[in-house]
Amino acid sequence: MNILAIETSCDETSAAVIADGYLVKSNIVASQIDIHRRFGGVFPEVASRQHVLAILPTIEESLSKAQVGWEDIDAIAVTKGPGLVGSLLVGVNTAKGIAWARDLPLIGSNHIEGHIYANWLQEDPNAPRHIPQFPLLALIVSGGHTELILMKDHGVYERLGRTLDDAAGEAFDKAARILGLGFPGGPAIQKAAEKAEGREFVLPRAELPGTFNFSFSGLKTALLRAVESSENVDVYALANGFQESVVDILVRKTVAAAEQTAAKEVVIAGGVAANTRLRERIKQELGEKVRVPKFEYCTDNAAMIGGLAYYRYIRGKTDQLDLDVDPNLDL
Ligand code: KG4
Ligand code: ZN
Repeated sequence: MNILAIETSCDETSAAVIADGYLVKSNIVASQIDIHRRFGGVFPEVASRQHVLAILPTIEESLSKAQVGWEDIDAIAVTKGPGLVGSLLVGVNTAKGIAWARDLPLIGSNHIEGHIYANWLQEDPNAPRHIPQFPLLALIVSGGHTELILMKDHGVYERLGRTLDDAAGEAFDKAARILGLGFPGGPAIQKAAEKAEGREFVLPRAELPGTFNFSFSGLKTALLRAVESSENVDVYALANGFQESVVDILVRKTVAAAEQTAAKEVVIAGGVAANTRLRERIKQELGEKVRVPKFEYCTDNAAMIGGLAYYRYIRGKTDQLDLDVDPNLDL
């Protein structure tokens, strides 16, 4: 079964063709990062206009890369939320138009849930297939979310903890702004930390003992104070200290949750899961038990939406043409 998936929740216009919920036949991402960089963050009105310009060429490219025609597509999947309302509307209205014109099933999908399904994807049809096992512990760390979720089955989630203030990716973005490292902050902080050559300005960790919740706003304030109070700012040591603090707390809480819940597997998902230090530390701690998606399936992409949509479709969870966006959709 081939699903054409569309993702436009934030600043990436993406379309993918996914077979049977796991095989990536194509995954095209038209990034707007260069356009938003001059604003120092995602400018919502500009994002939705860019989606309008990019959506049809991106879909056409995804079909041609997958070497399929419209007659080979069995269903249309689209992110319905959470995200920026104007951005989501472009994807949902395009998907509805195609579903109506081609008389295809329509599958509205949750972006956060989609990030978890990045761990089902594979590109090589001949490689042995790995199917994540339940109960599955998922650390979702993106620009908008930081959550520890116990997934007991497809569509069955228990939230163990979440951030009480900033999301991990948001914290990276704010820290990069404080250090003058530009946008997006995650990759910029990572690069600067790599240049620290081991120098680390140690910053606090919000332990929030007895919970699986997170807090990153105090860390941001501590970083700001450190910058304001020193004469010769060692940007690299500060970036390294900031990254160590975020990664350390994410890894320790995930390991504790994995032990407490006796999860069979642990996955990480979302843009911050692209962080090489996080990937390295979590593999050190959890070894074979943890899976990390390929870099391009960590940040926003339509392939993960196609993976999720397949498992919704086989449970009969399809939508009608009155499907609407939900910018605040929860898991
Ligand atoms: O999942 P995503 O692409 O979009 C949302 O759903 O939010 O995540 C974007 C976030 C941004 O905050 C970005 O700074 C962060 O992921 N990010 C990283 C890295 N790459 C992207 N954070 C840390 N290290 C990275 N290498
Ligand atoms: Zn995302």
